[in-house]
Amino acid sequence: MSKCNDIDLKRWRDYSDVLTDSLWLIDRRDKTGAHDGSYHGNFVPQVPHQLFTRYTKQGDWILDGFMGSGTSLIEAQRMGRNSIGIELQRSVADEARQRIDSERRQEIRAEVLVGDSRSIDLTTELKRLGIDAVQFVILHPPYWDIINFSDSADDLSNAATLEEFMASFGRVIDNTTSVLERDRYCALVIGDKYANGRVIPLGFECMNAFLERGFLLKGIVVKNIGETKGKAHDQNLWRYRSLQGGFYIFKHEYVFVFQK
Ligand SMILES: C[S@@+](CC[C@H](N)C(=O)[O-])C[C@H]1O[C@@H](n2cnc3c(N)ncnc32)[C@H](O)[C@@H]1O
Repeated sequence: MSKCNDIDLKRWRDYSDVLTDSLWLIDRRDKTGAHDGSYHGNFVPQVPHQLFTRYTKQGDWILDGFMGSGTSLIEAQRMGRNSIGIELQRSVADEARQRIDSERRQEIRAEVLVGDSRSIDLTTELKRLGIDAVQFVILHPPYWDIINFSDSADDLSNAATLEEFMASFGRVIDNTTSVLERDRYCALVIGDKYANGRVIPLGFECMNAFLERGFLLKGIVVKNIGETKGKAHDQNLWRYRSLQGGFYIFKHEYVFVFQK
């Protein structure tokens, strides 16, 4: 395997904070500095942190196709990686810009693009930035319609059917990974959903979309979903529904890692 990170294997015992198991139990969100955790539907900063440690080097470029509040870009900047984030909603992108700038490091670049990650012209954007390719792609799409992010028809959370969601997600894979350097890595963070009394396995559907395109599957990580702010009453209600309906309450999501 060619070197894609800054881990010094001669000192491998020093990296006890780097996760190598496929079960990630992260009990507390990193809320330091710009990571205020207020954006509904964000991921904990430890997810990009772990991925960037394993699959990127200082000075690399990271592309986040669903930037949201900018968690990946803030983390990339802290870790000395350059980054590009694409976000459909201008107001969300503007807020992310402010968060990122509050920890600005002069020598590191963090580019915020407002647009549709299915179709934004990345070749032109990269040319503008003076680079040929990115070295890592991270995708944290809407878990279909679990959270409705906006009213836009271009928003993946507004897809009318699973087929429509998958067609859009496939376009995002094609567009974002077209600028990913060969042999480098891409990560997908997603959970499943329930509808009409059955599980819709969004995680495996999206994983298959990568496999169909010839990507190599390097990892399937199961990560805990922390306690939501639901009241005890809601939790009891869900427990009752679960016992009644014969289903399990989701407490996990996935981090898939692929190599191009
Ligand atoms: C699950 S959130 C990502 C959260 C992010 N990881 C964070 O920590 O804040 C998904 C984001 O994708 C955006 N989005 C939905 N459809 C999009 C599209 N077609 N192109 C770009 N962004 C899109 C939504 O507005 C939302 O902010």
